[in-house]
Amino acid sequence: MPIRHVDVALAPGFAEPAGRTCLVIDVLRATSAMAVLLGRGTRAIYPAATVEDGLVLRTQLAAEGIQAALCGERDALPPAGFDFGNSPGAFMALDRVPEIAVVATTNGTPALLACLEAPLAMTAAPLQVSAVVRATIAADRDVLVVCSGLRREAAEDDTLAAGLFVERLVRAGASAGPEALFALERFEAARDDFGAALARSEHGQRLVDLGFADDVALCGTLDRYDVVGALTVEAGRPVLRAR
Ligand code: MLT
Repeated sequence: MPIRHVDVALAPGFAEPAGRTCLVIDVLRATSAMAVLLGRGTRAIYPAATVEDGLVLRTQLAAEGIQAALCGERDALPPAGFDFGNSPGAFMALDRVPEIAVVATTNGTPALLACLEAPLAMTAAPLQVSAVVRATIAADRDVLVVCSGLRREAAEDDTLAAGLFVERLVRAGASAGPEALFALERFEAARDDFGAALARSEHGQRLVDLGFADDVALCGTLDRYDVVGALTVEAGRPVLRAR
Protein backbone atom coordinates (compact mmCIF):
# COMPACT_ATOMS: atom_id res chain seq x y z
CA MET A 1 0.00 0.00 0.00
CA PRO A 2 1.50 3.40 -0.89
CA ILE A 3 2.27 5.81 1.89
CA ARG A 4 2.35 9.51 1.24
CA HIS A 5 4.41 12.10 3.09
CA VAL A 6 6.16 12.15 6.45
CA ASP A 7 6.97 15.28 8.44
CA VAL A 8 8.58 15.57 11.85
CA ALA A 9 7.73 18.13 14.53
CA LEU A 10 10.98 18.32 16.49
CA ALA A 11 9.02 19.68 19.49
CA PRO A 12 5.27 19.47 20.23
CA GLY A 13 4.72 23.21 19.77
CA PHE A 14 5.44 22.80 16.06
CA ALA A 15 2.89 20.02 15.62
CA GLU A 16 -0.14 20.44 13.36
CA PRO A 17 -1.86 17.11 13.82
CA ALA A 18 -5.14 17.71 11.94
CA GLY A 19 -5.72 15.25 9.11
CA ARG A 20 -2.55 13.25 9.69
CA THR A 21 -1.54 10.06 11.43
CA CYS A 22 0.52 11.24 14.40
CA LEU A 23 3.28 9.16 15.94
CA VAL A 24 4.17 10.61 19.32
CA ILE A 25 7.67 9.84 20.54
CA ASP A 26 9.16 10.25 23.97
CA VAL A 27 11.80 7.56 23.67
CA LEU A 28 13.31 8.43 27.10
CA ARG A 29 11.05 7.20 28.53
CA ALA A 30 7.29 7.79 28.42
CA THR A 31 6.36 6.14 25.13
CA SER A 32 8.86 3.33 25.75
CA ALA A 33 7.26 2.69 29.14
CA MET A 34 3.82 2.69 27.48
CA ALA A 35 5.06 0.20 24.86
CA VAL A 36 6.09 -2.15 27.67
CA LEU A 37 2.80 -1.70 29.54
CA LEU A 38 0.65 -2.29 26.44
CA GLY A 39 2.92 -5.09 25.23
CA ARG A 40 2.56 -6.90 28.54
CA GLY A 41 -1.19 -6.58 28.76
CA THR A 42 -2.25 -3.19 30.11
CA ARG A 43 -5.68 -2.63 28.57
CA ALA A 44 -6.00 1.12 28.90
CA ILE A 45 -3.69 4.03 29.62
CA TYR A 46 -5.22 7.38 30.56
CA PRO A 47 -2.67 10.11 29.78
CA ALA A 48 -2.60 13.09 32.16
CA ALA A 49 -0.87 16.37 31.38
CA THR A 50 0.45 16.95 34.89
CA VAL A 51 1.11 15.09 38.12
CA GLU A 52 -1.81 16.93 39.72
CA ASP A 53 -4.15 15.97 36.86
CA GLY A 54 -3.01 12.36 37.28
CA LEU A 55 -3.89 12.33 40.97
CA VAL A 56 -7.34 13.81 40.25
CA LEU A 57 -7.98 11.42 37.36
CA ARG A 58 -7.16 8.34 39.43
CA THR A 59 -9.62 9.51 42.09
CA GLN A 60 -12.33 10.23 39.51
CA LEU A 61 -11.88 6.83 37.89
CA ALA A 62 -12.01 5.10 41.28
CA ALA A 63 -15.31 6.86 42.01
CA GLU A 64 -16.63 5.27 38.80
CA GLY A 65 -15.40 1.83 39.87
CA ILE A 66 -12.30 1.88 37.63
CA GLN A 67 -9.18 1.01 39.62
CA ALA A 68 -6.15 2.46 37.85
CA ALA A 69 -2.50 2.41 38.87
CA LEU A 70 -0.98 5.89 38.83
CA CYS A 71 2.34 5.92 36.98
CA GLY A 72 4.72 8.64 35.86
CA GLU A 73 7.45 10.97 36.88
CA ARG A 74 8.51 14.42 37.91
CA ASP A 75 12.20 15.09 37.27
CA ALA A 76 12.38 11.44 36.16
CA LEU A 77 11.37 10.10 39.59
CA PRO A 78 8.02 8.77 40.87
CA PRO A 79 6.03 11.66 42.39
CA ALA A 80 4.62 11.38 45.92
CA GLY A 81 1.42 9.33 45.98
CA PHE A 82 2.15 7.51 42.71
CA ASP A 83 2.07 3.71 42.50
CA PHE A 84 4.85 3.45 39.92
CA GLY A 85 7.43 5.60 38.20
CA ASN A 86 8.10 5.86 34.47
CA SER A 87 10.67 3.08 34.13
CA PRO A 88 10.15 0.65 31.24
CA GLY A 89 12.62 -1.73 32.89
CA ALA A 90 10.62 -1.72 36.12
CA PHE A 91 7.42 -2.44 34.15
CA MET A 92 9.18 -5.33 32.43
CA ALA A 93 10.23 -6.75 35.78
CA LEU A 94 6.71 -6.76 37.29
CA ASP A 95 5.02 -10.15 37.59
CA ARG A 96 1.86 -8.50 36.31
CA VAL A 97 1.48 -5.03 34.88
CA PRO A 98 -1.57 -2.99 35.93
CA GLU A 99 -4.65 -3.63 33.81
CA ILE A 100 -5.47 0.05 33.75
CA ALA A 101 -3.02 2.90 34.25
CA VAL A 102 -3.10 6.66 34.53
CA VAL A 103 0.22 8.03 33.26
CA ALA A 104 1.46 11.57 33.94
CA THR A 105 4.88 12.62 32.64
CA THR A 106 6.66 15.90 32.03
CA ASN A 107 6.99 15.82 28.25
CA GLY A 108 5.47 12.63 26.85
CA THR A 109 1.85 12.80 27.98
CA PRO A 110 1.41 16.52 27.15
CA ALA A 111 2.74 15.81 23.63
CA LEU A 112 0.30 12.94 23.25
CA LEU A 113 -2.63 15.06 24.43
CA ALA A 114 -1.63 17.76 21.94
CA CYS A 115 -2.47 15.29 19.15
CA LEU A 116 -6.09 14.66 20.12
CA GLU A 117 -7.47 16.18 16.93
CA ALA A 118 -5.49 13.78 14.72
CA PRO A 119 -7.61 11.13 13.00
CA LEU A 120 -5.17 8.58 14.43
CA ALA A 121 -2.55 9.28 17.12
CA MET A 122 -0.31 6.46 18.31
CA THR A 123 2.49 6.38 20.83
CA ALA A 124 5.72 5.28 19.20
CA ALA A 125 8.94 3.79 20.52
CA PRO A 126 11.75 1.76 18.96
CA LEU A 127 10.56 -1.14 21.15
CA GLN A 128 7.51 -1.45 18.86
CA VAL A 129 8.80 0.16 15.64
CA SER A 130 7.61 -2.48 13.16
CA ALA A 131 4.11 -2.67 14.64
CA VAL A 132 3.73 1.11 14.59
CA VAL A 133 5.02 1.40 11.04
CA ARG A 134 2.63 -1.34 9.90
CA ALA A 135 -0.35 0.42 11.50
CA THR A 136 0.79 3.74 10.03
CA ILE A 137 1.00 2.35 6.53
CA ALA A 138 -2.42 0.71 6.94
CA ALA A 139 -3.93 4.07 7.93
CA ASP A 140 -2.85 5.46 4.53
CA ARG A 141 -2.59 9.14 5.41
CA ASP A 142 0.18 11.69 5.59
CA VAL A 143 2.21 11.21 8.74
CA LEU A 144 3.46 13.59 11.41
CA VAL A 145 6.05 12.27 13.85
CA VAL A 146 5.76 14.39 16.99
CA CYS A 147 8.83 14.56 19.21
CA SER A 148 8.03 15.28 22.87
CA GLY A 149 11.41 16.97 23.29
CA LEU A 150 12.73 18.46 26.48
CA ARG A 151 11.29 21.58 28.11
CA ARG A 152 9.15 21.95 24.95
CA GLU A 153 12.26 22.20 22.75
CA ALA A 154 13.89 19.75 20.36
CA ALA A 155 15.89 17.00 22.06
CA GLU A 156 18.47 14.73 20.47
CA ASP A 157 17.03 11.47 21.88
CA ASP A 158 13.61 12.01 20.31
CA THR A 159 15.12 13.33 17.07
CA LEU A 160 17.16 10.12 16.76
CA ALA A 161 14.12 7.94 17.41
CA ALA A 162 12.05 9.99 14.96
CA GLY A 163 14.74 9.30 12.35
CA LEU A 164 14.27 5.56 12.85
CA PHE A 165 10.55 5.89 12.04
CA VAL A 166 11.25 8.19 9.09
CA GLU A 167 13.69 5.65 7.68
CA ARG A 168 11.09 2.89 7.82
CA LEU A 169 8.40 5.07 6.27
CA VAL A 170 10.64 6.35 3.49
CA ARG A 171 11.61 2.76 2.77
CA ALA A 172 7.86 2.09 2.42
CA GLY A 173 7.59 4.85 -0.19
CA ALA A 174 6.91 8.06 1.75
CA SER A 175 8.37 11.39 0.73
CA ALA A 176 10.00 13.31 3.60
CA GLY A 177 9.89 16.96 4.67
CA PRO A 178 12.96 18.95 5.78
CA GLU A 179 12.74 18.11 9.53
CA ALA A 180 12.10 14.48 8.66
CA LEU A 181 15.26 14.46 6.52
CA PHE A 182 17.16 16.11 9.38
CA ALA A 183 15.98 13.43 11.84
CA LEU A 184 16.84 10.74 9.30
CA GLU A 185 20.37 12.12 8.97
CA ARG A 186 20.82 12.13 12.75
CA PHE A 187 19.59 8.55 12.93
CA GLU A 188 21.79 7.38 10.07
CA ALA A 189 24.85 8.86 11.77
CA ALA A 190 24.00 6.93 14.95
CA ARG A 191 22.57 3.77 13.43
CA ASP A 192 25.37 1.48 14.58
CA ASP A 193 25.32 2.67 18.17
CA PHE A 194 21.75 3.84 18.59
CA GLY A 195 21.57 2.90 22.29
CA ALA A 196 24.86 4.66 23.04
CA ALA A 197 23.72 7.74 21.11
CA LEU A 198 20.55 7.88 23.25
CA ALA A 199 22.74 7.60 26.35
CA ARG A 200 24.89 10.54 25.14
CA SER A 201 21.86 12.84 24.74
CA GLU A 202 21.11 15.37 27.49
CA HIS A 203 18.16 13.40 28.83
CA GLY A 204 20.02 10.10 28.42
CA GLN A 205 22.93 11.38 30.49
CA ARG A 206 20.60 12.59 33.22
CA LEU A 207 18.89 9.20 33.37
CA VAL A 208 22.26 7.41 33.50
CA ASP A 209 23.35 9.71 36.33
CA LEU A 210 20.13 8.88 38.21
CA GLY A 211 20.86 5.14 37.90
CA PHE A 212 18.58 4.39 34.92
CA ALA A 213 21.27 3.22 32.46
CA ASP A 214 19.39 -0.07 31.96
CA ASP A 215 16.27 1.86 30.96
CA VAL A 216 18.22 3.87 28.40
CA ALA A 217 19.68 0.67 26.89
CA LEU A 218 16.22 -0.93 26.81
CA CYS A 219 14.69 2.11 25.10
CA GLY A 220 17.29 1.74 22.34
CA THR A 221 16.28 -1.82 21.45
CA LEU A 222 13.95 -2.57 18.55
CA ASP A 223 10.81 -4.63 18.20
CA ARG A 224 10.36 -6.30 21.55
CA TYR A 225 6.61 -5.77 21.33
CA ASP A 226 4.17 -6.28 18.51
CA VAL A 227 1.56 -3.85 19.76
CA VAL A 228 0.50 -0.25 19.17
CA GLY A 229 -1.34 2.16 21.43
CA ALA A 230 -3.96 4.30 19.69
CA LEU A 231 -5.53 7.35 21.31
CA THR A 232 -9.30 7.50 21.55
CA VAL A 233 -11.76 9.47 23.64
CA GLU A 234 -14.12 7.55 25.91
CA ALA A 235 -16.68 9.25 28.13
CA GLY A 236 -14.94 12.53 27.39
CA ARG A 237 -11.52 11.24 28.47
CA PRO A 238 -8.50 10.59 26.26
CA VAL A 239 -7.40 6.96 26.57
CA LEU A 240 -4.75 4.91 24.85
CA ARG A 241 -5.83 1.42 23.88
CA ALA A 242 -3.73 -1.44 22.57
CA ARG A 243 -4.53 -2.64 19.09
C1 MLT B 1 9.05 12.79 30.13
O1 MLT B 1 7.84 12.66 29.81
O2 MLT B 1 9.58 13.88 30.26
C2 MLT B 1 9.95 11.59 30.33
O3 MLT B 1 9.35 10.42 29.99
C3 MLT B 1 10.72 11.66 31.60
C4 MLT B 1 11.37 10.38 32.06
O4 MLT B 1 12.46 10.03 31.61
O5 MLT B 1 10.83 9.68 32.93
